[in-house]
Amino acid sequence: MKNKAIALSLLMASLITMHSCKKDKSDTEADNALYSEVASTGYSYYQNGNVLPRVSPSPHGNFKLRFNAKALSALDSTGELPPGSSFPSGSIIVKEVFSGSSVSLYAVMKKDPSNDNAGNGWVWAEFNPDGSAAFSVVKKGDGCISCHSGTPNRDLTRTFDLH
Ligand code: HEC
Repeated sequence: MKNKAIALSLLMASLITMHSCKKDKSDTEADNALYSEVASTGYSYYQNGNVLPRVSPSPHGNFKLRFNAKALSALDSTGELPPGSSFPSGSIIVKEVFSGSSVSLYAVMKKDPSNDNAGNGWVWAEFNPDGSAAFSVVKKGDGCISCHSGTPNRDLTRTFDLH
């Protein structure tokens, strides 16, 4: 009887372990999938790729900003999202945060309202230069959205009113 109970609890423990390993793996896959989009080609830089200074309340540091073709399609002739407009699904915005002359962090927003990891319509992430996640998509923008929804914002983006 006692042995049975021990066997049962071992079984439970291994099932739980297996389950959480599986979850970790798919979390990593979701981060990797977004990072491969971040690392791909077809982006255009905001303001000619000049390094822009961090402006309060930004926590990020000096940066360059780039848009994939989908995000670019929402910008007007001055290169900004018009107030009151929204980015279409599939838009990706990558903020390359600089430390000296090299990128130290990629902060990313992808418009993807039907994604399980979306928070307020966007998937939010940060990646280290080696592609590992510094802030996983599974956090659903917890800690990002509160600041990005501050006034003024344009579809939760903040650059256009500050730079
Ligand atoms: C305390 C405020 C604050 C927090 C928290 C914050 N951001 Fe930002 N973020 C900003 C501001 C302000 C900008 C505008 C550019 C600048 O001056 O740095 C910005 C810019 C960005 C941009 C470029 C698009 C835009 O909004 O202009 C991305 C992408 C981004 N942040 C991602 C994130 C992610 C991902 C998180 C959470 C891990 C996060 N941010 C947390 C304030 C914040």
